[in-house]
Amino acid sequence: EKVVLAYSGGLDTSAAIPWLKEHYGMDVIALTIDVGNERDFTQIRDKALRVGAVKAVVIDARKEFIEDYVWKTLAAGAIYENEYPLATAIGRPLIAKLLVDVALAEGATAIAHGCTGKGNDQVRFDVATAALAPHLKVIAPAREWGMTRLQTIEYAKKFNIPLPVTAKNPYSVDENLWGRSCECGILEDPWVEPPVDAFAWTREVKDTPEKPAYVTIGFKQGIPVTLNNRRMDGVTLVSTLNEIAGAHGIGRIDHIENRLVGIKSRETYEAPAAVVLLKAHDALETMTLAKDQARFKAKVAQEYADLVYNGLWFSAHKSDLDAYIQNTQKYVTGTVRLKLERGCFRVVGRKSPYSLYSHGLATYETGDTFDATAAVGFIKLWGLPVRTQARAQTLKK
Ligand code: ARG
Ligand code: SIN
Repeated sequence: EKVVLAYSGGLDTSAAIPWLKEHYGMDVIALTIDVGNERDFTQIRDKALRVGAVKAVVIDARKEFIEDYVWKTLAAGAIYENEYPLATAIGRPLIAKLLVDVALAEGATAIAHGCTGKGNDQVRFDVATAALAPHLKVIAPAREWGMTRLQTIEYAKKFNIPLPVTAKNPYSVDENLWGRSCECGILEDPWVEPPVDAFAWTREVKDTPEKPAYVTIGFKQGIPVTLNNRRMDGVTLVSTLNEIAGAHGIGRIDHIENRLVGIKSRETYEAPAAVVLLKAHDALETMTLAKDQARFKAKVAQEYADLVYNGLWFSAHKSDLDAYIQNTQKYVTGTVRLKLERGCFRVVGRKSPYSLYSHGLATYETGDTFDATAAVGFIKLWGLPVRTQARAQTLKK
């Protein structure tokens, strides 16, 4: 029997290879997915084979990740608990989908992942797999084996698994193009300021350029298509923007969030491109969506963020919301200009061929087309119930 394991090259997923053989008698196919986490994928593949995988596969899924996961989340305006742009949460369903694809192609009967039993990620892998291939078994060695860190190291030594040579990283990190998630170590004390070594994509404010940078982002139907007036594919656009905004110290998030499994966890995120794009997209919507559309869409955004966080990417509910969101994006076309400066950024300009902003209606200068005399009658009716009630009842006691 064969199992396809989501393989990162780290200690846990390496130890999982002999463990799956020992405890389940299964041959392991190691699958490593490139979602924009800068790694030496050749080295990872070699390590999987050295450690005992019967086959090791690497898939570059960056384009699929951007187009099918990131752009949908951006169009939705989804941010979990007002802070977290959901990088890890949208990476997991894509990895699960590819695990399933490979499992079906290889005739495997199970997939496996390296998540612990305390987090959200296990839920996302397990539920996504259930949605896509309910007959496949899901094995989570680190959830089952009950080994401490030290015991895992001993186990790894027994199977000649090379231990990480670099100075031990005190954090648990997950990265993809939409952001970097970092937890554990000293970050578990919510009073402690995250040390500089918790960050990798963003500069300290003191090291950022004094001169502000202007960035323009062009959207077509809610999807970013140009950066500084240059057409770019999504992967290039997001990576370039991560570089630019990160250099200006933008995109650091320090958050205590509610996990689905009932615990609060303190996590830091770096998401330079995500925060800038979400803000820019929102700014364009303020110009192109009517008041009711914008208000209702904000509620949908929250629902969307929750369901994505909670592992329901592949669900009928999510697909229903996508249809609504997609329809709202028809006229979200235009350009947004932002100013990045010393760890901060703001929108300083926006334009759209479908703008609902009317200068003639808004202006206090000449060219005013707003009929102020109509305001009198409007206010009379708008205030009618208030006036009626004030006559019959007193507001204060
Ligand atoms: N808390 C985030 C989430 O649930 C990130 C989880 C992965 N983080 C990590 N450092 N391994 O989406
Ligand atoms: C894990 O448990 O593997 C990572 C943390 C999480 O899923 O939230």
